Amino acid sequence: MDGSMRPALDVQRVRQDFPILSTKVHGKPLVFLDSGASAQKPRVVLDAMLRMMETSYANVHRGAYHLSEVSTAAYEAAREAVARFLGAGDAREVIFTASSTMAINLVAHSFGRGVMKPGQAVVVSEMEHHANFVPWQMLSQAHGIELRIANVLESGELDMADLEAKLADGKVGLVAVTHMSNVLGTVTPVARIAALAHAHGARVLFDGSQAVVHRRVDVRAMDADFYVFTGHKLYGPTGIGVLWGRMELLEAMPPFLGGGDMISEVTRDGFKPAPVPAKFEAGTPAIVEAVGLHAAIDYVSGIGMEAIEAHERSLVDHAMAKLSAVEDLTVIGHAQDRGGVFSFALGNAHAHDLSTLLDRVGIAVRAGRHCAEPLHVRIGHDSTCRASFGLYTTHEEIDFLAEALSSARRFFT
Ligand code: ALA
Repeated sequence: MDGSMRPALDVQRVRQDFPILSTKVHGKPLVFLDSGASAQKPRVVLDAMLRMMETSYANVHRGAYHLSEVSTAAYEAAREAVARFLGAGDAREVIFTASSTMAINLVAHSFGRGVMKPGQAVVVSEMEHHANFVPWQMLSQAHGIELRIANVLESGELDMADLEAKLADGKVGLVAVTHMSNVLGTVTPVARIAALAHAHGARVLFDGSQAVVHRRVDVRAMDADFYVFTGHKLYGPTGIGVLWGRMELLEAMPPFLGGGDMISEVTRDGFKPAPVPAKFEAGTPAIVEAVGLHAAIDYVSGIGMEAIEAHERSLVDHAMAKLSAVEDLTVIGHAQDRGGVFSFALGNAHAHDLSTLLDRVGIAVRAGRHCAEPLHVRIGHDSTCRASFGLYTTHEEIDFLAEALSSARRFFT
């Protein structure tokens, strides 16, 4: 490795920022390998949320008194921070939602039913999380939209030729695919996908729930139309997610939920929606969580997304070497470009039994289908275990996982 590319992230220093990492599980040090499901929180996020509630909390956009103005400023500062983090030009294009799931449902409802016409199609891929699958199935049933599913290759990569074939008739209004698979770790070629979709008259939505944690994202450079992610995987709180969308699309879309804050006028006969972004933020938003997300973004930006990515690349290479050496272990997903998510099967051992054995030595992994049942059918495994890394994951934890898997193999055979 070139010296200038060496990971600049001091993982032992980073670990001290996360109080939970000193927890013991069954009397053993915690080896937390489930950050893909939800990441742990650094002290700065916890402190920012507590400080907000102790010193500057009130509802936003509603009060003409000091505390409400301070709270509103903090909430809107979080929006600005998200816009910078995503490389977006205009913070009004950032909509706060409850989660990635809510953000995709918003697009499925407001763009899918409000802008797309029956007879058009949406393309997803075989590797989508249910959050980027079921809303489109619901749209398909309710609005006469055809759902097309682009194939995944044996390597775990998106079949770009199949995607192109599915776009060929010009009926596709939206391509909705993950930026990084939560099962295979595959990082998809978002700029190529966007170019292909646009060439066929379709818009693109990228589900960045996993990717945004591991890579620098630039929605303008990739030429996205919509990009979604969630706070809790990015070392922030639960209950807050983000939809970024191009202003002209957000302006053309009808509101999703109705209520306070999303209107500019209401009469007995009807309402006039507020301008973007308020149009899509009905009700009291997740104010404290927005402040926590802002702190999380400042935290990862302070470390540097390039340093985080370099650390993760080194973990991925290490994990690939270590896990490939475990007898009877099948690692699912060998894409050229992949992140720190490793799903695996050990011989005929059931994933739940295996994860229970790993838990006994302090290792936390996810077991099951990881909210991606169609993908599990595609890969021919009823269920898998999944180890997923965070910026606090160490090479030693991966060694420990590999040793525990070798012991588990001896146990099962
Ligand atoms: N979407 C989260 C995962 O993949 C919950 O585990």
